[in-house]
Amino acid sequence: MKPIQTTFIGGGMIVHDQLLPSLYHLQRLGAVGDIAVVEASAARLKHLVNDHLAAAFPGQSFVAHPVLDSDPKQEDFQRYRSVISKMPPGNLAIVATPDHLHFDVIKFCLEHDQHVMSTKPLVHRHDEAAAIEKLARQRGLFVGIEYHKRFDRRALEARALYRAGRFGQFRLGYACLIEPYRYRYSNFQNWFKKENADPFTYIGCHYVDQVYFITGLRPTSVVMTGVEGTFPNGNVAWMWANGTVTFENGAALSINAGLGYPERGAGTNDQGITLYCEGPDGKDSSPEGEGGCIIVHNDQFRGVSHCYVDDAAAGAHFRFVNPDYMHLVPWTGPGLKPVGYGYDSVEAIVQSAIRVASAGDLASRQALLAEIDEAGLIATPANSSINEKVSEAARLSLAEGGRRVEIKY
Ligand SMILES: NC(=O)c1ccc[n+]([C@@H]2O[C@H](COP(=O)([O-])OP(=O)(O)OC[C@H]3O[C@@H](n4cnc5c(N)ncnc54)[C@H](O)[C@@H]3O)[C@@H](O)[C@H]2O)c1
Repeated sequence: MKPIQTTFIGGGMIVHDQLLPSLYHLQRLGAVGDIAVVEASAARLKHLVNDHLAAAFPGQSFVAHPVLDSDPKQEDFQRYRSVISKMPPGNLAIVATPDHLHFDVIKFCLEHDQHVMSTKPLVHRHDEAAAIEKLARQRGLFVGIEYHKRFDRRALEARALYRAGRFGQFRLGYACLIEPYRYRYSNFQNWFKKENADPFTYIGCHYVDQVYFITGLRPTSVVMTGVEGTFPNGNVAWMWANGTVTFENGAALSINAGLGYPERGAGTNDQGITLYCEGPDGKDSSPEGEGGCIIVHNDQFRGVSHCYVDDAAAGAHFRFVNPDYMHLVPWTGPGLKPVGYGYDSVEAIVQSAIRVASAGDLASRQALLAEIDEAGLIATPANSSINEKVSEAARLSLAEGGRRVEIKY
């Protein structure tokens, strides 16, 4: 299989923290060829060239569109069109723009015969997810959605055990994902406006997806409310959100999501999920004759905490460290190596794109795509569009003051 050429569209926070380091590592392993990043302007590209990444990946770099020394004030949000049009077909476009722009960009990439990796959520509307699924299938192209929490080993373990019947049935749960307060000072203030996004569909979606990933249960209704706030630049947004999702067996999951975890907290964010389940009553399930089961994932404090000499660099006196998401650590090769489910997720998606690209004619590619959909490990438009059903219902519920919105299949 030959290395796949990749082009990022959007080069913001997630590209810096997770996607580009993962791609650099895959490049040094020979899976990935040239890496390009398209941005609206050079101003948004410069943070991707720094000492931290240079030390981790010595000698590696990306092709910048526009070039780094071009006028930072010159913005062109259509630049990706000319770059993608010039890519040889059958390579990989990585869509990392704000959520509400995904549909147009992904459609364009598919129409130009590129496989796609998209940051989550794929899109906000189910008809858009269905259109992406159809277009990709017709052309034999792979679309993988980067729900990295799926590759957390605790989620993989829970999925296997739940599907083996070890937890009985999910009945009631709660989850939370509160991102750092400082996000309000980032580029988020330019796009995370009420009409484009809210914390539930932006990050709460991880835990909706996770319940589906573990249990296979489809959501049937959503109630969602939000709490407003104002960004430093004056844009008004939903800063906090609470949603309750019910599932086809009557179970319910309540999710709190927001942009407001205290900078001085040990955090650096707050996240986790608890699922109460019921097995069959009686002595068959346990000697005590009771059927209660539980899955608890503390995704915030994973048993590692640090206190550094340089408070200023760390941002706090004392930090909880998440060793499982994404870290650059020493390895036997040059520089540092990315480890964690952030890397595992990207690797699985890139390897799948390579497999599909190498599968041969249209019929063979379509057969492999059906296999990947069916396996259900990587989120694809075909196997994870319950997420768009939930997003669509949640946005409607939010707009209508927390009305319960039913989901139909
Ligand atoms: N926990 C998570 O899973 C997680 C975390 C962060 C971000 N994300 C997802 O990643 C995506 C990007 O988020 P982010 O945090 O990097 O946001 P960001 O605001 O830091 O970066 C987005 C970038 O896209 C660029 N952009 C916008 N329109 C463009 C266009 N037409 N052409 C080229 N570039 C364009 C912007 O200039 C910006 O630099 C979103 O879909 C978000 O939901 C996921």
